[in-house]
Amino acid sequence: MTFEFLLAFAMLVVASFGHLGMWIALYNRINATGLKRTTIKRIEKAIVLACGIIPLLLLLIELNQHGLVGVLAGLFGGASAWSWLTIAYSVLAGLLGIVLAPFWIMDRPHFAIARDRYQVTSAEDLNPLKETVKNRRLYLRGRSFRKMSKLPGNQIVSLQRNCKRLKFKNLPNDIEGLRIAHLSDIHLTGQLSNAFYRLATDWIAEQRPDMIILSGDILDNEQSLHQIQPVFDGLNAPLGMYFVLGNHDRRLTDPTMVCRKLCELGWVDLGKEQAMRQHQQTTLRLIGNEQPWFQRNPSPYKFEPGRTSPGNEWTIGVSHSPDQFAWGIENRCQLMLCGHTHGGQIRLPIVGPIVAPSWYGTRYASGVFEKNETLMHVSRGLSGVHPFRWGCLPEVSVLELALL
Ligand SMILES: [Fe+2]
Repeated sequence: MTFEFLLAFAMLVVASFGHLGMWIALYNRINATGLKRTTIKRIEKAIVLACGIIPLLLLLIELNQHGLVGVLAGLFGGASAWSWLTIAYSVLAGLLGIVLAPFWIMDRPHFAIARDRYQVTSAEDLNPLKETVKNRRLYLRGRSFRKMSKLPGNQIVSLQRNCKRLKFKNLPNDIEGLRIAHLSDIHLTGQLSNAFYRLATDWIAEQRPDMIILSGDILDNEQSLHQIQPVFDGLNAPLGMYFVLGNHDRRLTDPTMVCRKLCELGWVDLGKEQAMRQHQQTTLRLIGNEQPWFQRNPSPYKFEPGRTSPGNEWTIGVSHSPDQFAWGIENRCQLMLCGHTHGGQIRLPIVGPIVAPSWYGTRYASGVFEKNETLMHVSRGLSGVHPFRWGCLPEVSVLELALL
């Protein structure tokens, strides 16, 4: 093994990392914007094409110039040399890879998660397709999900029902132990049956939480509007049920149809109005954020200048995207509930998620994060439009407020 070979091989690895990193980073950020869906889809296609075509094109140029033996000889430091185009792109991608690598490593959710601020107190993993063949017919409706659910390890019809204890400093005594059910990204598309969603909503009803929050991506098409009533029927909570819309709800010609349906069932539309609930001596304020997809802008609650967070008020912010963390901090939310990133949808062993539609890449893919006074819970969500999930169980959570 020559020094030239090691050098060429190392360059190829770094260049490949830079190449993939650059296009994936761009893919994640494009999907975090509020651009029109058609524009995003066009850019996505261009990114996927560029990502696949560039290396293929360079390989074809090399094969054309040097033949297969020449290319292999070039890799092994033989007589043949790479063309200037391959060298230029490899150096560019390699340099970018070297620059991106530390940021990518620092942004791993593994390092960002606030481990001392929460504890999973129970987690029940369901895999109904393993139980009986009948369940395939019971839970799957659409052809693409039905086909893809047969892929080994695909978790689209799995579910984790978990309880987490979130810990806060200065938590008012009277809300210690308060339980909030958090649902996100249910994506009613017609692919999964109501029976699947009821695995989550029936469990919430059994848990009897004090409050229920749904953080967006409720519906993907008008044809699935009829699923809202049977999926959410019977849910109730003494301190109310609240929702915001997500980017997928924008696919409807009139997204307010979803709002009207949910409001008929007793949900409060936080994209339209703030809410205040009195719980013993504490005033719970609930504020919503649907940026960058909806500009409904309910007037955000602001503290008076110079006033710090008062002891008897507690603010919960609900945003579809965790990219609004800064908004939650600015509005002094003690708790923020988000979804959108689906936990990355695919999680590789050790590496974790690679793709997440966020300005922060996969940093806030799912979990509990803290900054200043704000604790943010990002749910992996219940479903999605892509018919695959690996190493990333769909989830529904009940969050219990506790003192740190
Ligand atoms: Fe979603």
